[in-house]
Amino acid sequence: MLSPQGRGALSDAVLEGMRAGRTSQLAQAPQPDSPEDAQLTLWVLYELHYRGFEDVADELEWDPQLISVRRDLEADFEQTLRSRVPEIPDPADFAEDFFTFVASHDGPSIAAYVQRKATDDQVRQLLRHRSIYHLKEADHTTWVIPRLSDRVKAAVVELQFDEYGDGDPNRLHAHLFSRGLQDSGLDSRYGAYINEVPLEVLEENNAMSLFGLNRRLRGASLGFLAAFEATSSGPSRRMARGLERLGFPESMIGYYTEHVEADAVHEQLAVRTICGALLEEEPDLYDDVYLGAWTSMDLEDRYAERMLKQWDA
Ligand SMILES: [Fe+2]
Ligand SMILES: [Fe+2]
Repeated sequence: MLSPQGRGALSDAVLEGMRAGRTSQLAQAPQPDSPEDAQLTLWVLYELHYRGFEDVADELEWDPQLISVRRDLEADFEQTLRSRVPEIPDPADFAEDFFTFVASHDGPSIAAYVQRKATDDQVRQLLRHRSIYHLKEADHTTWVIPRLSDRVKAAVVELQFDEYGDGDPNRLHAHLFSRGLQDSGLDSRYGAYINEVPLEVLEENNAMSLFGLNRRLRGASLGFLAAFEATSSGPSRRMARGLERLGFPESMIGYYTEHVEADAVHEQLAVRTICGALLEEEPDLYDDVYLGAWTSMDLEDRYAERMLKQWDA
């Protein structure tokens, strides 16, 4: 992937420095012009830890100046995410309370719209936006693995093994999505659509990286995972029906039908075995588990609100 276009003073300056391999001038980095400018910058900085950019030197992954810009952006973002969390249940029966917390959350649903009404163009736009995450699906959770106890680690790896295709590269969820894109006539190259994604997509992707790449936020990372899995099975079924209705290729539909059953299993694993065990061992992470869970649902709501409004739905 080539580095994306900037979206304001800060992302322009950071991208220019990265491409030129000169970052010292970022000691006086400009303030971000907008939330979008800040989030694109953060996305670009995180991407250095995933696959990087063809036009940026690999050595810059741990460049102190870039890390310093990243830390400032992360601090602001984390504060924003924390300020959005509503009241959470008092610690009692974790799994029960958590499922209730997720079930009682009622946000706008893109999947329901896709099932019944969305046009072909709208669904294609949605798939382009989703490609930013689905082409590196599950990778953000992998960062957390070395930070966990044996018991929690074994359960996370069991879940990740599924996401990564149970040993078959053709069954990797990211690969299923990529094939679906290709068969739908869309660009399946990693990051191909980054220049057209709105703020909410950048925020969703950045929250996953923020939680995954900071050891102290491991509770939020696993809470995010649990809520993500617990809100996936039903919407995946509706997405599959909508894609069928519009005549999308079998492979694209198959990506979503795969998630109907897989995520019904994953939600139990993530809530009970992963977060349940984590909190037995580290009860102080309770609030952070809910920070992650809320963030997962809230950022998806924000995205859905934007798109449904834009589509006049
Ligand atoms: Fe998946
Ligand atoms: Fe899953």
